[in-house]
Amino acid sequence: MENEKKKDKKTKSSKSGKSKNKAKKAEGEQNSTSEWRVTDFERLSTLGTGTFGRVYLVQRESQYYAMKILRKSVVVRLKQVQHIYNERNVLQNATDCPFIVKLEKCFQDQKNLYLVMEYVLGGELFTHLRAAGRFSGATTRFYTAQIVLVLEYLHKKNTIYRDLKPENILLDRKGNIKITDFGFAKLVEDRTFTLCGTPEYLAPEVIKGKGYGAEVDWWALGVLVFEMLAGYPPFYDENPFGIYEKILLGRLSFPSHFDSASRDLIKKLLAPDRTRRLGNMREGTLDVKKHRFFKGIDWDALSKRQVAAPIIPEADHEGDTVNFEDYEDEGGYEVCLDPQVVDIYADIFADFA
Ligand SMILES: Nc1ncnc2c1ncn2[C@@H]1O[C@H](COP(=O)(O)OP(=O)(O)O)[C@@H](O)[C@H]1O
Ligand SMILES: [Mg+2]
Repeated sequence: MENEKKKDKKTKSSKSGKSKNKAKKAEGEQNSTSEWRVTDFERLSTLGTGTFGRVYLVQRESQYYAMKILRKSVVVRLKQVQHIYNERNVLQNATDCPFIVKLEKCFQDQKNLYLVMEYVLGGELFTHLRAAGRFSGATTRFYTAQIVLVLEYLHKKNTIYRDLKPENILLDRKGNIKITDFGFAKLVEDRTFTLCGTPEYLAPEVIKGKGYGAEVDWWALGVLVFEMLAGYPPFYDENPFGIYEKILLGRLSFPSHFDSASRDLIKKLLAPDRTRRLGNMREGTLDVKKHRFFKGIDWDALSKRQVAAPIIPEADHEGDTVNFEDYEDEGGYEVCLDPQVVDIYADIFADFA
């Protein structure tokens, strides 16, 4: 399925950080990205690999960034052209949410598309969750509440995220979340129909191929809350069709340590009838925020990132990669500015910059 992502199964390996000392940026230069060239960035290591591309830690002068590189040929073959435009557009319009990764600049060359983002050094929530086994109620509440703020922000802009999962939630230096991967995010005024996302997190209406809207993000949040508290997702099977069957069946089995507020929140987010799903009713996000699971959360302080985070990622310096997995180097993503190489996709990506 072209629009479906695998849920990665990774194991944690340790890695020591790399230290680089380069001359400090000239004053005033840091605000202007118009002068940036794709060749300015030195590649240091791979941070992540996805279905459609690869993300590198890169350095320009003294600053570190994450650079997502997608091969044009692969984007076209897997029918992701519209999605990559959506990703860029949504990120360019989501600059004032502190919990969304900042897109600095886009490039393209004869072969690839490049998205240069801020580098979020704390690694994936996925890694921290697997290391911990499962999270406590308080830890889960902190991350869930920050994600609620992200969904509130996006939905107000009529944008659906569609790929909520622990791999796409990163932690910044202080342990606050930054959502990355807007490959499936979309501005939707009404309904949309594409089957996309990651099997474990798909809402029943997406699987059924019915039109759907922002309520699918609230479903995915229910899956995520369950997974953080349990250490495993609520609907699981070896193959995607088994997962879909379980989602459509909708039977929930809570581990005994889940308290009643958590059970109630999860049940209400995982309501198969989306007109009765929390977040998708009269008061929208407010209904979610008012749920007793969030009792004691200071929403205002949280939105200003003034609440102490439960996990402070270790890091020696701004370019430390200790929180990321090791990846084998893989060719095929080299910058190609050779005018002799014909860019057969030039028209398709003419507006990508
Ligand atoms: N801004 C970033 N800072 C640090 N790591 C990142 C950043 N963006 C992505 N990554 C890493 O790269 C992985 C893949 O990127 P993502 O955008 O999710 O690609 P895909 O669409 O292929 O899943 C992420 O899960 C994360 O580990
Ligand atoms: Mg991803």
